[in-house]
Amino acid sequence: MFAVHLISFFFSKLQEDPTKKVDRFLHGMRLHDDQLGDISARFQAEMKKGLSAKSNAAAAVKMLPTHVCSTPDGSEKGQFLALDLGGSKFKVLQVKVREGVGIKKGEVAMEEKIYPIPKELHAGRAAELFDHVSESLKDFLHEKKISLEKKHPLAFTFSFPCEQASLDQGMLLSWSKNYRARGLQGKDVVQALREAIDRTKGMDVEILAMVNDTVATMMTCGFDDQCCEVGLIIGTGSNACYMEELRHIDLVEGDEGRMCVNTEWGAFGDDGALNDFVTEFDRDVDAASINPGKQIFEKMISGMYLGELVRLVVLKMAKLGLLFDGRVSDALRTKGKITTGDVAAMEEYKTGLNNTKNILIQLDLTPSLDDCIAVQHIGTIVSFRSSNLVAAGLAAILTQIKQNRNLEGLRITVGVDGTVYKTHPQYPKRLHKVVRRLLPECQVRFVLSDSGSSKGAALVAAVAQRLASLRRKVEETLALFKINQDQLQLVKGRMRERLEEGLKSKSTSTIKMLPSFVYLTPDGTERGKYLALDLGGTNFRAMLVRFKKQRYRLYHKIYTIPLEFMQGTGEELFDHLAQCICDFLDYMGLKKARLPAGFTFSFPCEQAAIDTGTLVTWTKGFKATDCEGHDVVNMLQEAIKRRNEFDLDIVALINDAVGTMMSCAYEDPQCEIGMIAGTGTNLCYMEELKNIEKIDQRNVPTKRDEETHEAEEDKQNAGANKKKTEVNSVVSKMCINTEWGGLGDDGCLDDIITSFDVEVDKNSINQGKQRFEKLTSGMYLGEIVRRVLLDLTRRGLLFKGHVTETLKTPGIFETKYLSQIESDRLALLQVRSILQQLGLLSTCHDSIIVKAVCGAVSRRAAQLCGAGLAAVVDKIRENRKLDHLSITVGIDGALYKLHPRFSQVLKETVRDLAPQCDVTFLPSEEGSGKGAALIAAVARRKQEM
Ligand code: BG6
Ligand code: BG6
Ligand code: GLC
Ligand code: GLC
Repeated sequence: MFAVHLISFFFSKLQEDPTKKVDRFLHGMRLHDDQLGDISARFQAEMKKGLSAKSNAAAAVKMLPTHVCSTPDGSEKGQFLALDLGGSKFKVLQVKVREGVGIKKGEVAMEEKIYPIPKELHAGRAAELFDHVSESLKDFLHEKKISLEKKHPLAFTFSFPCEQASLDQGMLLSWSKNYRARGLQGKDVVQALREAIDRTKGMDVEILAMVNDTVATMMTCGFDDQCCEVGLIIGTGSNACYMEELRHIDLVEGDEGRMCVNTEWGAFGDDGALNDFVTEFDRDVDAASINPGKQIFEKMISGMYLGELVRLVVLKMAKLGLLFDGRVSDALRTKGKITTGDVAAMEEYKTGLNNTKNILIQLDLTPSLDDCIAVQHIGTIVSFRSSNLVAAGLAAILTQIKQNRNLEGLRITVGVDGTVYKTHPQYPKRLHKVVRRLLPECQVRFVLSDSGSSKGAALVAAVAQRLASLRRKVEETLALFKINQDQLQLVKGRMRERLEEGLKSKSTSTIKMLPSFVYLTPDGTERGKYLALDLGGTNFRAMLVRFKKQRYRLYHKIYTIPLEFMQGTGEELFDHLAQCICDFLDYMGLKKARLPAGFTFSFPCEQAAIDTGTLVTWTKGFKATDCEGHDVVNMLQEAIKRRNEFDLDIVALINDAVGTMMSCAYEDPQCEIGMIAGTGTNLCYMEELKNIEKIDQRNVPTKRDEETHEAEEDKQNAGANKKKTEVNSVVSKMCINTEWGGLGDDGCLDDIITSFDVEVDKNSINQGKQRFEKLTSGMYLGEIVRRVLLDLTRRGLLFKGHVTETLKTPGIFETKYLSQIESDRLALLQVRSILQQLGLLSTCHDSIIVKAVCGAVSRRAAQLCGAGLAAVVDKIRENRKLDHLSITVGIDGALYKLHPRFSQVLKETVRDLAPQCDVTFLPSEEGSGKGAALIAAVARRKQEM
């Protein structure tokens, strides 16, 4: 009837088309394609700003990483509860996903119930809102007769901006739309929900994943269409997410693959970026909203605001006399009186104009036909602008994806949800058309989410569940390497017992406690030129050290010892050493000089004097024949004789720990402990002579001898060195080389030894020996890691279960890789490239696991060394009957020096286990060579006396 009237109206009156005046009035809302292109480019710039770590804090568009790394692939399965909060309806659901049904358009069974949220809860306390959510969940379980006994995994769609560090955590950045409940902003939303569920009582629920509605929508649609990599909401609010390349997401570690980013595009323009497109009506809508200045883009687009925009335009035009003959009703003046649903109704095909008239009449207005046409046109312009802006935003996202993939064109699906898109009759068509016009090179398919967001949320939860079970299994393995404080105390106690036992004359201790015949730490009076030889660490080093007036100079050369010498005959090994020394002397032009030499030999030697020593047993990677039980000084001298090119006077044989202590004591007189955390591990310290039952106390130099010697020295130095006198007066101590690597050889560490350690020991050249060393030192840590990685791979938890030859190769994973992989500065990309060097092709997820394995193994090593050291410092403190001991540990070895965390954990553990000791660590600068030369200097002096 009204339509007939309308036609006659057109033909009878030759008056201005009422839409024209609206077009003029709303000129600023009618956006041309070039303007949309401009907006699109601005949005893409905003996206980049949000993705970059540098500019993210200041960015309006937050580009939130969602930790959803894959779209559905059909492998998802399980039964989940789901909550959907933040859209126009709050829903509780149960979703059942059968494995393999996705992608191929299979069935997902869903049951849902809508629970109204009382208005006051939107702005009340967040705890009350969540209590309501949780009680609704309980009611749903009752109603659907779902067991309350069982644990239920739950997926949570929460349609607000959250900063997520993982899928099951998310800090609310700010409320948007019509929510502003107090006490949740800045807090973990998942935790708040958990607490509410606990308060409700009687439910056992595990919240596996929290997702934004855009993400859930993308997943829902991705279930049927694998090309769906964008999720879009045009509902109460508006937002979009898409699959971004991980390498572009600065805020998340990782470089490989993709992660879904929730753009939170509603905030586009909050920093003024859209000011030239914002109209006075937008400003009025914003000013009257619950979040002024926020969500500027959203307020130009979404269902919560479109009706209000139309009302404000109509009101303004009426006030200007452009509508209703200038008449305005109270209803028209009232906020919210025109809804977005009304706007949709105005544009209904055929009935739209009639609907418009009815809506205006409902507002106590008496519209003419022209008024109705004009108001309908206002609705069209406002909703058209909305779809245009969405198209511009989408164009930016699709361009970004296209550029990421270096493609000319793109075939992609956008999953969409939201009442505006679903109920506005013209909206989808217009949107699709503009997007295709803006991006003619892209084939964009739009798929409406058929079942809301919960199906997608459940799919995310299903993946999370699978990953969590995988993570749990990895964690279980890593837990084997965790040692708690009580266990560390036990290790400390066991070390202490065996240290004491080892000092006895007929000791059965696995810790050998070898007397070193070094009685004094250096005093700065050492003079002359010495050769220092250093065998047993990573390399063999020959060195010339010159001491002069409390200063020294050092020249050295490094030689590698090939495996065939390490594990050949003793004669070959010592001949090789002689050859290296010869080369060094040649290099220094000292072949003719018969220099006094200190020989650092980093293996356990039974010594009866400073210049002799019988090798008790090889350790680490050495097993040359005919050496054990022989005097190594002799063996070296024999080799030198055989060579017959130079001569040496080996005046001291010392362990590397002892050499390290001496080196550092030259810098710091408080240094009375030497420690090695390198290829092997060991420690020496100054023990009271009276406690060393195993040496013949009659043969040790008496204090009197030393005083005589001191007096001689003092005469020469004219009493210049006071510190020296103090140090020299303490001749009651001897340095003991503990050889602590042998702890556990009697089984006392079996409670912490894992099956991986057992394997490493079994395959070593000294099975059953040096058990502590095998848990703590560079020669073994990499191999332990390799065995753990192999096990995890065999169980399908790593490297996609692909066991490579590399991974099966013993020794391939050197400890230096451990140090590199654990380095904090390394991004996962670098970790992966290290693994790649090793022939291990890893994903980003694999790299995280490998890093965690390295961390667990090296942490245990540092803790155990800390426990051992705590036993030693407490013993020294008690020896001296002190309440508090301040002492320095001279320390060397690649593990200590190169590993990024070893030293820190070592220090923390000593602090915790020996709180009465203040332990300073002094890394040895020149290795143990300087110490060996110092000992040689003292020994030489004695020889001369
Ligand atoms: C629903 C989804 O279908 O759409 C929600 O399940 C989403 O998660 C909502 O928030 C968005 O639309 P609206 O119009 O309800 O805000
Ligand atoms: C060196 C010492 O600096 O460190 C050696 O000079 C010692 O004597 C070595 O054996 C220990 O470290 P690594 O890592 O080489 O075994
Ligand atoms: C608001 C929220 C956003 C959500 C959108 C659609 O913009 O901030 O998280 O996706 O509404 O519901
Ligand atoms: C091994 C050796 C020991 C040495 C240590 C560090 O444990 O047995 O003598 O000090 O390695 O190199």
